[in-house]
Parts: sequence; C-alpha cells; structure tokens
Amino acid sequence: MPDVTDFFIEKFHKNLDLEHELSRYYSPRPYRNAVVRFRSCSIHDFEARREILIREAGLNPFLFRADMIPGCDLLSDSGTTTMTMEQWSAMLLGDEAYGSNAGYFELKEQVILTFGPSWGQDKSLFVGENENVFIFHQGRACENAFFTILSRELRKRKSDSKRKLSNELLPALKARIETKMGFHPGGHVASEPPFFIIPSNSHFDTTEGNIEDKNLIPVNLPCREHIEKREDFPFRGNMDLEELESLLEHERDRVPLVYLTVTNNTGGGQPVSLANIGKIREITKKYGVPFFLDACRFAENAWFIQQKEDGYRDRAIREIVHEMFGHADGFHISLKKDGLVNIGGAVLIKDDGDFTRAYPRFRGELTDYQIMTEGHPTYGGLAGRDLMGVIEGLRTVTRQEYLDIRIRQIERFGERLVKHGIPIVLPTGGNAVYIDMDRFFGDTARDEDLKAIAFTALLLIAGHRLCELGLYSFGRYDGSKEIPPDPRLNYVRAAVPRLLYEERDLFSTAEAIKLLYDNRERIPGVNVDYGRNLKLRHFKSRFSFK
Ligand code: F0G
Repeated sequence: MPDVTDFFIEKFHKNLDLEHELSRYYSPRPYRNAVVRFRSCSIHDFEARREILIREAGLNPFLFRADMIPGCDLLSDSGTTTMTMEQWSAMLLGDEAYGSNAGYFELKEQVILTFGPSWGQDKSLFVGENENVFIFHQGRACENAFFTILSRELRKRKSDSKRKLSNELLPALKARIETKMGFHPGGHVASEPPFFIIPSNSHFDTTEGNIEDKNLIPVNLPCREHIEKREDFPFRGNMDLEELESLLEHERDRVPLVYLTVTNNTGGGQPVSLANIGKIREITKKYGVPFFLDACRFAENAWFIQQKEDGYRDRAIREIVHEMFGHADGFHISLKKDGLVNIGGAVLIKDDGDFTRAYPRFRGELTDYQIMTEGHPTYGGLAGRDLMGVIEGLRTVTRQEYLDIRIRQIERFGERLVKHGIPIVLPTGGNAVYIDMDRFFGDTARDEDLKAIAFTALLLIAGHRLCELGLYSFGRYDGSKEIPPDPRLNYVRAAVPRLLYEERDLFSTAEAIKLLYDNRERIPGVNVDYGRNLKLRHFKSRFSFK
C-alpha cells in the first residue's frame, strides 16, 4: 500500500502533462510579480480614446499616448520588457566612468558565456583596432553605423559595377532585384554604380531603410514554405537556399555579405532551423562571402530549434545558441528584445571570421564612427548602469523556464484567436501573433482602402494597441496608386512584450479582436491625410475614416 503522499505526487505530476488543454493551468508561472503599476485610465473611457485617436493621433497607433491605453499595448516587444529584480539591482552597481567602465569588461565575459567561445578575445583588455564588441544605443544605430562603414569600404572597390545583372540568375530573383534597383525611397535610383546587394531571409524595416539609405540594395529570400503559408512547417523563417546559391554563383562580387534575421520578425516572427543556418554557412563559405545574423530574438529562435528540430530536444538552450553563433562571422543585435532591456544594441565581429579577413580596416573604422556618434566604445551611447542590465538580461534570456513561458504564452494567445475564427499566421512565432488581413477582410477588400489601419484604430478605441505591418508599412505609393510589398505581406501584428502581461490581459485583447471580426463588414477604409510618400511612412502618417 503506497503512502498517500506518493499517490498524490503521482497525480500532481500527471496533471502537469495536461497543460496543453486550453485555459487550464496546472503549473504556475516561473516568476512572481515584484512591482506592479496601476493604470491611470479605465477600459470604460471609450469616448476619450476616440477623441485622442482622431484629433491627436490621426488614427496612427504610434501617435496615440500610451498612458491612455487600459488594455494590452502590443505595439512592440522592443524595449518594453519588464526587467527582473536581479537586473534592477545589478543596475545600481553600474560604473559610470567615462572610459573603460567595469561593466564593459563584464559584458565581454558574458558575451562569451551567452554566444560561445568563438566570441572571446585574447586581448580582452585591449580596446582599439581589434575590438570585437561595439556598443550602440539600439539596433538601428548599429545598422546605420555598420552600413555606413560598409558602403565606404565598398566604394573603394572598383568593381565592374556598370555590368548588367547576370541572365543566369533565377528569373524570379532577378526580377525582384531589378524592382529594388529601380526604386529608392530617397527619390534616386538605387542602382547608381557601384551597386551591391545585401540578401537576407527578410530584412526588418529599419535594416532595409538603412541599407537603402547607403545606396545598397536589400533583397529578401524567404523560403518557399513561407511564401506558400505552410501552416505545418515549423521553420518558416528559413532562407531560400536555391535563390541564395543562384545569387552567389552569378553575382558573387556584388554581395558583400549575407544576412539572416533570427527570428524572422517581418515574416511573422518565424524561426530559422539550424539546418538552414548550417547550409547558409556552407554556401557562403563556398563563395567566400561573410555571413551575419540580425540576432534580436536569438534565444527565442534557439527555443524553437530545441522544441521542433530533429536532434535538439535534449540540448540546452545555451548550447544551441553557441552552435547558431558558431556559424556566423558577425551579428548585430537590438538588446531591446532578447537582451531583456529597455534600451541597447551591439555589433559583434569575430576576430578570425571571414568578415574581418575581407574588411581588415572595418573594425577600426567602426570604433572611430562610434566615438563620433555614440561615445567611447566602452559605453557606446549607454549609461554604465544600462550595461549591467544587459549583462543580467543575457543571463536570464537563455533560461529554459523563461523561454517556455514566454513562447507558450504567445502560442495560447494565438490558440484563443483561432478559436474565435480569426485568421492568423500559423504556427505562431516567438514574439508576436500576426493577423492575416487578406483573410480577415476577404477578397472584396480593396488594397487602397487600407482597412487594416481602420481595424487598428477601432481596436485602440476598444483599449488595445496593435500595429499594421503590411500594405501600408511595407508597401509604397508610386504617385497614383499603392504598390503592395513583394512578396505580399498584409498583417496586423500583436507583439507581446516580455514578462509584462498575463494571459487574462491577452485574452481580453482577443475578445476585442473577435468583436471587430464579427462585425468586419462595418469596418470602413481610411484616407491618408499625411505622409503617404515618406520613408518609413507608417511611423508618422495621419489618416481619417472614409
Ligand atoms: N532588426 C529586427 C529584426 C528588429 O525587429 C528591429 C526592431 C531592429 C532590427 C531594430 O532595432 O528597434 O533597437 O532600433 N524591431 C522593433 C519591432 C522596433 O517592433 O519589431 P531597434
């Protein structure tokens, strides 16, 4: 006769296996609240929100004041993380010395622990031409600095840049590059020689903006499963290897490096498999082209590899991260995502990587640029205390229990929306749920009505903030009509901040979305009152209901 406690322990264990049943929780969160913030507004303030939305914000969620949002603010998962007590207390120990503060050296050690031994440096006390960690205040500052220096380096190369694109390129790829060459948001033609192409699975909008701004040509090579919207495919963030091979085989001289965004934010927060990363490394090695990651959500990507890729189920997250980053010659990261902080970014360039070999002066020039624009390389636009928050954040982000709850929360939010009949991108990604506006409104919706903008505006009146990432954000206006992005994207994104909301909050957003979905034939189009021709226009535009 077993002890009664044995009996119950066995039952408790079994209950935990039922965790996947919708809305039943047998295990608690692996953390508890240490600080809370009461709202200064109420969900009942519908008229006040309508007033602000129409008069102040011009229906643009970016321009709507956050303190008037009583529900979930899902505008971005960037810089919106709730920090841990360990982070806050580490920040009190920040060293605010102007040069070579203590946090910088600690960060360099943490980089090795988080990203692997290949990111270490023998001369760890040496700051100068051989630096491998470049601190910036956020991701786009990294992009701006990186592509500024890169384009300077490239201009020194006298390539036969007037040569036409090779006819041997895969036709669809060639057509996409030509479209990109013919258009530049600054009003001039991006193909002015010398022209260079930066391929990626999908560049984020600021990355793309920074590349174009330096007169380089960003090209996306998303995998076929992504374009076909394959809901049963776990790694829709992958790059199309056939297109990559074609590009490097026929235009190798025009490709200074290959980029890969993990997870693929623009394409639905979708992860990239280690098999894909390994193959990209093989192909780039074959053609002698350096390989970089946009690593904003590297830990979330590693979790998907662990859960869904053959052979990784028993591997620790840290080990998977080391394997991912072992393949790269460098990366840039907005630490506002998987750095678990509210501000910060970094570029990392491997000492003995192909990039350093190809551009030996680059690192020295990057530190010069940092000094001109951000500050001494040992703090790079951040306070010493911010660095301490980053170091602690990089320790927390690879914890199994953190990633389990983080990504399962998004999965459950997605399940709830699916239960309500809302068309979302499946499988759900690591940082957000993407609502498919083409299916939401059906075939009768006209692109130029931009109904997704009206949907986000009405949702704000309900008390929740999401943002359009689709026809308006990624498309463009050619002077007479809207041109949708290619490949076509028409999403509204609900980006879930880290450690901020509970399921109850997200489910209340799901209810508001359902109400709008059930009455979708009443959602009007919008007029664009301002900003249609601006670069990155979605941040500043103003609209009114038709
Ligand atoms: N790369 C990716 C993949 C991103 O998602 C972002 C930002 C950046 C670069 C730029 O970093 O914001 O620190 O300057 N994404 C945010 C978002 C803004 O809401 O998805 P940043």
